[in-house]
Amino acid sequence: MIAMSDRAGAPDSLDLNRVRADFPILRQTVHGKPLCFLDSAASAQKPQVVIDTVSKLYETGYANIHRGIYKLSQDATEAYEGVREQVRDLINAEHAKECIFLRGATEGINLVAQSWGRAFLREGDEIILTEIEHHSNIVPWQMLRDEKGLQIKVAPVGDDGALDMDAFAALLSPRTRLVAMVHVSNAIGTIMPVEKIIELAHAAGAKVLIDGCQAVPHMPVDVRALDADFYVFSGHKIYGPTGIGVLYGKAELLDAMPPWQGGGDMISTVTFEKTTYNELPQKFEAGTPNIAGGIGLGAAIDYVRSIGFEAIAGHETALLDYATEKLRGISQLRIIGTAPEKGAILSFVVDDIHPHDIGTILDREGVAVRTGHHCAQPAMERFGVTATVRASFAIYNDFNDVDRLVAAIRKALEIFE
Ligand code: ALA
Repeated sequence: MIAMSDRAGAPDSLDLNRVRADFPILRQTVHGKPLCFLDSAASAQKPQVVIDTVSKLYETGYANIHRGIYKLSQDATEAYEGVREQVRDLINAEHAKECIFLRGATEGINLVAQSWGRAFLREGDEIILTEIEHHSNIVPWQMLRDEKGLQIKVAPVGDDGALDMDAFAALLSPRTRLVAMVHVSNAIGTIMPVEKIIELAHAAGAKVLIDGCQAVPHMPVDVRALDADFYVFSGHKIYGPTGIGVLYGKAELLDAMPPWQGGGDMISTVTFEKTTYNELPQKFEAGTPNIAGGIGLGAAIDYVRSIGFEAIAGHETALLDYATEKLRGISQLRIIGTAPEKGAILSFVVDDIHPHDIGTILDREGVAVRTGHHCAQPAMERFGVTATVRASFAIYNDFNDVDRLVAAIRKALEIFE
């Protein structure tokens, strides 16, 4: 049994029939089989209420926001800004203005690198990452490193994929200015001890950025309890639309940071001689935003909260435990990532069969999984593989999905025998 104290609580109390009925895409067949969708870590499917909210906005309530004195624009502005308050409440930020709407988590990390990093980091300063970061939490720092002469240090994980805390602590130095770390690994599922990491990093005088893409849809996240300096997540992984995400930053940090992108909405006054900038959050939101995406995200947050994180965590933990046990019963299969604390993500390889071949056979059975390096090539390298098959679970998955995954893997084994 994989312990999941961060996600603890509940036995499986989710009303699965109701939840599954909320996701119209699950009613379709793929290659003549009912869709078994096990790729929610890449992007989650959308409940009807999110789809309806977005269509209704375009049908009856759409206009540009922050710009119109007419009712339609003001109503759209109110709806969009209402979502900022929902996000604040979801992650327990102190102020809604600390929640910046962007294209997604990737854009949030790039913003911190290009604004905070360029303004405040100096040659020789150090950034600590981990071996299992997503490329979006590696490449922006490398770009900054190359520009500013920084040093990137990489904290290792053990053979189970859990962070080596002693090695991490040993990397901290008076030159450490930032620790940038995933909350839950998209590639292998490890839940990082972010609370402890933040405490250690702060004691060393460093700031901390957490990539919460795989955490926010699955567990309660409290940025103030964590004392995170920056925290990012993407809307499409929490059952919302694509193209909308959130950068949370402590107000005093965001206030001190220069704007990143210039354009409409982020200014206060513009002349050809001088521009003054808007206040938070608009200072970081140049141009017309993803209005429908934001309002759709609000519907998604309401939806998830109506189910409740206790029920979600209880259900997904039960699925992970069941799937882990079943996959362990296949002798040719090796699970990559067996940390004591895991999110509902199972990465694995099968002897002598390439992950893409497994993925193709699974697809013929209606089972959708991700295969490849999961945008985390260093994590793959750490485990001596170039790719894995990854099954990731969400609120709408059931035990039958796990059984179908296992049956399809057995079929692949027969084909390749
Ligand atoms: N980062 C996403 C994944 O893990 C796309 O699949």
